[in-house]
Amino acid sequence: YALQGCTTFGQRIKLLETTVSTQEEARSLAESGSPSGTLVLAEEQTGGRGRQGRKWYSPPGKGIWMSLLLRPEQQPLSFAPQLTLLTAVAVCRAIRRVSEVDAGIKWPNDILVGGRKVCGILVESVGEDELIRYCIVGIGMNVNLEGSELPTEVSSIATSLLIEGGQRIDRSVLIGEVVREMEQLYELYRSEGFAPIRILWEALSVTLGQRITVKTTGGDLTGTAMGLDSTGALALLDESGENRIIFSGEVQLGG
Ligand code: BTN
Repeated sequence: YALQGCTTFGQRIKLLETTVSTQEEARSLAESGSPSGTLVLAEEQTGGRGRQGRKWYSPPGKGIWMSLLLRPEQQPLSFAPQLTLLTAVAVCRAIRRVSEVDAGIKWPNDILVGGRKVCGILVESVGEDELIRYCIVGIGMNVNLEGSELPTEVSSIATSLLIEGGQRIDRSVLIGEVVREMEQLYELYRSEGFAPIRILWEALSVTLGQRITVKTTGGDLTGTAMGLDSTGALALLDESGENRIIFSGEVQLGG
């Protein structure tokens, strides 16, 4: 299969009925020389992975479970967090294009609707000598799951486009939009750098201006989310009025 409207992304697609994780499939394709832009899609994942070792529930036929292989040229390892932010913008714009649902981004990479998560992004990169050899951009999106189909342990924090928008969405149309947005934003990034991505991200963010708590390896930090810095890190004004820059962590809205 190949995707229309794209020139490199999605020009090769591996479509699987079931797999453990599309991340692993994409990684083995990368290691065997598949080109940048190769896309792996699965109807079902039996061992879908989220960030921080969490499981990603991926039942058959209900969502988009996909991994995109990218081979950025001469990019430092610090590119991966920016690619995560770029992907969040692409997903958000794609959702808004195919549905009425008002999707927003929670730093760094969750897509929320009405405060609950519809999509998660996991970017894994493999590098050599400080440069990226390849990145695998994993996107998991709850599309046509009914409320009763969400596992009870996540029902208060997760949702789906069907639950929020009340209508089923054609997954192939949405996949096409996500990949097209990604290709366009990636081109923009290559020609203009991170600055325009940062502006688009900030416009879609549900985090900015909010009082949040960030769980970092160095402990919890509470303050007001002010924006992204020029590298994509989160700028936080903490409770004692100090500006803090946060490179990685988990955000809780509301402090
Ligand atoms: C997160 O929010 O923790 C990230 C979730 C990423 C899930 C996707 S589904 C497709 C790809 N394959 C996986 O095993 N994980 C990612």
